[in-house]
Amino acid sequence: MKRAKKDKLDLDNIIQCLGEVAKTLKENPQKALRELRRIGALIDSNIPYRDGHSIRVADRCLAIADYLGFDENEKVTLEVASILHDFGKIGIDEAILLQPRKLTVEEKQVVEMHVMRGYYMLVGFNEMVEALSGIKSHHEFYNGGGYPAGLSKNAIPLMGRIIAVSDAYDAMTSDRPYRRARTKEEAIEQLQEQAGRQFDPALVRIFIRHIREKKS
Ligand SMILES: [Fe+2]
Ligand SMILES: [Fe+2]
Repeated sequence: MKRAKKDKLDLDNIIQCLGEVAKTLKENPQKALRELRRIGALIDSNIPYRDGHSIRVADRCLAIADYLGFDENEKVTLEVASILHDFGKIGIDEAILLQPRKLTVEEKQVVEMHVMRGYYMLVGFNEMVEALSGIKSHHEFYNGGGYPAGLSKNAIPLMGRIIAVSDAYDAMTSDRPYRRARTKEEAIEQLQEQAGRQFDPALVRIFIRHIREKKS
């Protein structure tokens, strides 16, 4: 398999590698996921302020899946969706992603577009089709106030609700151009505050239990 270049993001090569991942996903999921994690790490290292983000989000999503009793197939789908949840950020203007001030309405629209960009960039991989619902719904809000569709409660695919909690926790506990990382306890407090608004309250409870037990 042709390897993606080490430092520079080569989208054609990444798409080609994803094609290989998709092909092996059914017959040898562990091999496919190893390669997908390598691609995920490469993408993260090339998107400002995201080093390690997708992999950490995926690991914590899988921990929630264990609490929920997901079977192996469901876990594979969730792992694919969580590693690729921000795939659509590739190619978005770095100046906007790095913007330290509050974004303008137009800039916010550009950032929010990453959800549907990712969906359309990946929709051709039939073998990953189940993961797409998680990618597409990871910024929906439990109360219906999110994007892109404004879905609420259980109308939001479970995968999307899981990724939303894990994604927000990782974003809060990482440095951003406009703020320092919050502590674990501050992030937990935020998740609790947003339970039932932004996040599924049952998943927030499970996630916090996991974070506290893991002590990380
Ligand atoms: Fe996102
Ligand atoms: Fe994210």
